[in-house]
Amino acid sequence: MALVGQRRPREFCSTLLGVSIPGQNITDGVALMFDTEARVYVAGHRGLVGSAIVRRLRQEGFERLLLPTRAQLDLRNQADVDAWFEESNPGYVFLAAGTVGGIWANATRPAEFIYDNLMIHATVVHAAYRHGATKLLYLGSSCSYPREAEQPMPEEALLTGPLEPTNEPYAMAKIAGIKLCQAYRRQYGCDFISVMPTNLYGPQDNFETESSHVIAALMRRFHDVRLSGESQVRVWGTGTARREFMYVDDLADACLFLMKEYSDEDHINIGTGQDLEIRELAEMIREIVFPGAEIRFEPDKPDGAPRKLLDASRLRALGWQPETGLKEGLRKTYSWFCENNHSRIESDKTPRPGEPIP
Ligand SMILES: NC(=O)c1ccc[n+]([C@@H]2O[C@H](COP(=O)([O-])OP(=O)(O)OC[C@H]3O[C@@H](n4cnc5c(N)ncnc54)[C@H](OP(=O)(O)O)[C@@H]3O)[C@@H](O)[C@H]2O)c1
Repeated sequence: MALVGQRRPREFCSTLLGVSIPGQNITDGVALMFDTEARVYVAGHRGLVGSAIVRRLRQEGFERLLLPTRAQLDLRNQADVDAWFEESNPGYVFLAAGTVGGIWANATRPAEFIYDNLMIHATVVHAAYRHGATKLLYLGSSCSYPREAEQPMPEEALLTGPLEPTNEPYAMAKIAGIKLCQAYRRQYGCDFISVMPTNLYGPQDNFETESSHVIAALMRRFHDVRLSGESQVRVWGTGTARREFMYVDDLADACLFLMKEYSDEDHINIGTGQDLEIRELAEMIREIVFPGAEIRFEPDKPDGAPRKLLDASRLRALGWQPETGLKEGLRKTYSWFCENNHSRIESDKTPRPGEPIP
């Protein structure tokens, strides 16, 4: 049986150097398994990605979830993060917290995008090392690849050219997160892995007009225009940029799969292998939300990178593939949006540091 939750000596990671057993690490002769007894910390559990990982973990029967809110633990503060790790002793960490947003948010808040993300990645990775977490999975982002990367983008494309200028500060911080995981693995033998998801959407997405990503932004715009009694929906850019999208529950499934099956310093892409033009996406969303709408593109607004499609063949070769088609995912997302009054659910059933985990 897995011995999870037992105090482990600090800085134990070095004992793992050279040990690479997927889904299982050996510490002082004790196997610490990623199973339903594990104490699992999902950083960012109220966000799009974190909430999907929590749903998936609960489906699998994981009950010892550690879910402090941002109000309880500001992940930019190393001392607070260290104190929380000392108190809560997570065995497994999904690092899905960060300052995230679309083109407008990146353009107007570049300092927050680089500072917050650099700090959050550094504090959590360092605390996971210092307090002996068995394994950590870090969420990178496909916008870390160069603007002119070959398409589809293989893992090797990272750091081979200039970044897309509209989100460079964010992308730099995301790259630093990958390098942190690699460095802690190399120097201390920590089993920290990085994944590179494509663009995501789904329940608990951010539908705020100023900071949302393209799918949430378009859904919101079609919805609001329908309610307003007007018919013209404005869409940023020329509509010709090509993008890939994954339903977030598929991403969560991939993250659990990789937590069990993957242990390497190279980051790994998580994508569907299919992309489409923003124009086609807008038409799909129109069909679901407001079939009578007229779409008007705004070519003076930025398109972002001309194409972004991940090469997910490495993940496929490990035996994982997504299940949810784009139309089905969009329908589920719009249902969630309508049922939840367009905004994220606040979950306050979270144990505070020191409180017993149910
Ligand atoms: N969305 C995508 O399309 C996409 C694609 C690829 C990769 N990713 C990566 O996936 C990760 C999660 O993205 P997401 O879309 O799920 O973002 P999100 O929906 O905005 O969620 C981010 C989460 O981080 C938390 N957080 C932010 N700052 C914090 C702080 N200082 N202390 C504690 N918690 C903090 C937020 O807490 P509150 O709930 O309190 O605000 C929220 O729960 C990010 O690393 C992102 O780079 C996302």
